[in-house]
Amino acid sequence: MDSSAPIGIFDSGVGGLTVMRKLIAQMPHENVVYFGDTARVPYGNKSKETVLRYTHQIIRFLQTKNVKAIIIACNTASAFALHEVEKAYPLPILGVIQPGAQAAVNASAAHQTSGNRIGVIGTYATIGSRAYETLIKKIDPESQVFNQACPLLVPFVEEGLLEDPLTDEIIARYLSGLKAQEIDTLVLGCTHYPLLRPAIERYMGAAVTCIDPAEAVSQQLQNVLETAGLLRQVGDAGAAPHYECYVSDAAEKMTEFANRILPFQIENVHKINIETY
Ligand code: DGL
Repeated sequence: MDSSAPIGIFDSGVGGLTVMRKLIAQMPHENVVYFGDTARVPYGNKSKETVLRYTHQIIRFLQTKNVKAIIIACNTASAFALHEVEKAYPLPILGVIQPGAQAAVNASAAHQTSGNRIGVIGTYATIGSRAYETLIKKIDPESQVFNQACPLLVPFVEEGLLEDPLTDEIIARYLSGLKAQEIDTLVLGCTHYPLLRPAIERYMGAAVTCIDPAEAVSQQLQNVLETAGLLRQVGDAGAAPHYECYVSDAAEKMTEFANRILPFQIENVHKINIETY
């Protein structure tokens, strides 16, 4: 495997760009290929079988781009499919749940007043799978985990309502139960929620640490690539990194969202037929 090969990253849609943003901040020299399944989003209310089938198709597509590793940015796909796909392909495939769970346990343990009380928010599918809860309790059996599905937050983010009284109202509605449980740590277990972090932190208060699993998975991937000798060298030919974006529908929506949240402009978003992979 060539160290200048790109990292593949995918999501059910545009939300995974929050993970790509962290990945690029962590490893600014890496080439990246992003796929957003904009034709079939949302995954958060689909069955495990369906999300698993989609995940296999996307991994096969990313393999045609000769990626050296893959991050499943989507929490729902990580919860439903990582276990089945991680050993099925000859390259590292990482999901966001395990690194996010570990980061949450670490953050919770660092709280002075800690009762190891961790909240998790995500789609219906992620929360229903109990993937975060299972891993958090495996790492720290003393911890108490409080789950809350927040399905309406995804469309609010996609509408750009990041700072809006209506968003604050929905956040209060969803998170009041977790606040009453006096959690010390909150896992933002959905690609879109880091964009609501200021609003969520404002509602939960300074005593609660919010965890964005994207940071932990980027660090984990860096370690994996370093161990395998696969980090792209700064002196490699064509030093400026190359970013490619693919979608299964509505390329212009991806371009618009990407240019809103990424620290650079994305010009070419390519549309592909993912059903053929
Ligand atoms: N990307 C999904 C996740 O992180 C949220 C959007 C969806 O439901 O597909 O779970």
